[in-house]
Amino acid sequence: MDLQMVDLRTQIEATRPEIDAAIAAVLDRGAFVRGPFVAAFEAELATYLAGLGSDADVFALGVGNGTDALQIALMALGVGPGDEVVCPSFTFVATAEAAALLGATPVFVDVDPVTFNLDPAKLKAALSTRTKAVVPVHLFGQCADVPAIRAVCDPLGIPVVEDMAQAIGATWNGQPAGTLGALGCLSFYPSKNLGAFGDGGAIVTTDPELADRVRQIANHGAAKKYHHTAVGVNSRLDAIQASILSVHLRHLPAWTQARRAAAALYDGAFAGMDDVVRPVRVPEARHVFHQYTLRVPAELRDDLAADLKARGVPTMIYYPEPIHRMPPYTTGAVLPETDRACREVLSLPMHPYLTAQQVAFVADAVRQSLAPVTA
Ligand SMILES: Cc1ncc(COP(=O)(O)O)c(C=O)c1O
Repeated sequence: MDLQMVDLRTQIEATRPEIDAAIAAVLDRGAFVRGPFVAAFEAELATYLAGLGSDADVFALGVGNGTDALQIALMALGVGPGDEVVCPSFTFVATAEAAALLGATPVFVDVDPVTFNLDPAKLKAALSTRTKAVVPVHLFGQCADVPAIRAVCDPLGIPVVEDMAQAIGATWNGQPAGTLGALGCLSFYPSKNLGAFGDGGAIVTTDPELADRVRQIANHGAAKKYHHTAVGVNSRLDAIQASILSVHLRHLPAWTQARRAAAALYDGAFAGMDDVVRPVRVPEARHVFHQYTLRVPAELRDDLAADLKARGVPTMIYYPEPIHRMPPYTTGAVLPETDRACREVLSLPMHPYLTAQQVAFVADAVRQSLAPVTA
């Protein structure tokens, strides 16, 4: 059985005529940077997010990648040297790197062991007078509890930036990710739920003033052409990627359904299996399953991964090392749930074209791998 963590080949086969036409339209028009294809995708993205249940209009700005999106969002909030930005340590490094690039200090909060997301109960202790923003991550496709995080932050005037790189289409109490805090940051890395065929990212917000600010910062700090009122960056979503993303966005609702259906099949297959903790859905959250991540006992995890590989089942460990233990970010923070998650997580193949047979094959392989232990 041909199993992959993410099967872009099958996806491309299914969408090839639409993709070819979209790229051809960009070549015919010769508009490669900014211009109508990027504007169209930005509008479609805003409409898609608003349609998930936003109370307010959504603004969307395409940028170069998800890391830039985070950096620009923090710049729009005035983050700079001497400031602190609070975020989880159990995430991709970019979440903390964006703050560090601006001369700010990332301050790490432990995760909730059930969801792997920033634990709101532990947030207050991490805040200081220097905290300029809090960046929860909607890890693996399930929203962090932003209302609980905001209940701590709002009275102190600390804005929340959602790292929603893994969570387009996710909602919390019917409100879409990206509209729960001040700004939301997306990555369109090819393996993401909405992926380009190269790098790409976006910043979304319901605040028109912040929308203007991020647009200027991403364009060299230009208020209008050749008039630069702030130090900015050059971060652009290119038109070919935007045209591809417009095609993919049309498929996203069906792809998200397919991911959720595959997750439900995995859940059924792992029900009652010793040594396997399935992803827990929070009732308020609509999980979009960027990853289907099991928790298994640390002493079994690496052998299980190796055995699954031998059986033809790829797996990944997101993430093997927490950021707070990486040399540039070492703070001495004590984050036991983060450390435990790094030792216990194992992500299985997950993508919209995963078949019921493939899910059954993976689940059987896991069962057989663990059999000597669970028997
Ligand atoms: C949680 C998280 N944040 C940020 C990023 C950075 O996105 P990019 O790779 O597009 O810069 C990623 C993806 O790689 C991610 O998974």
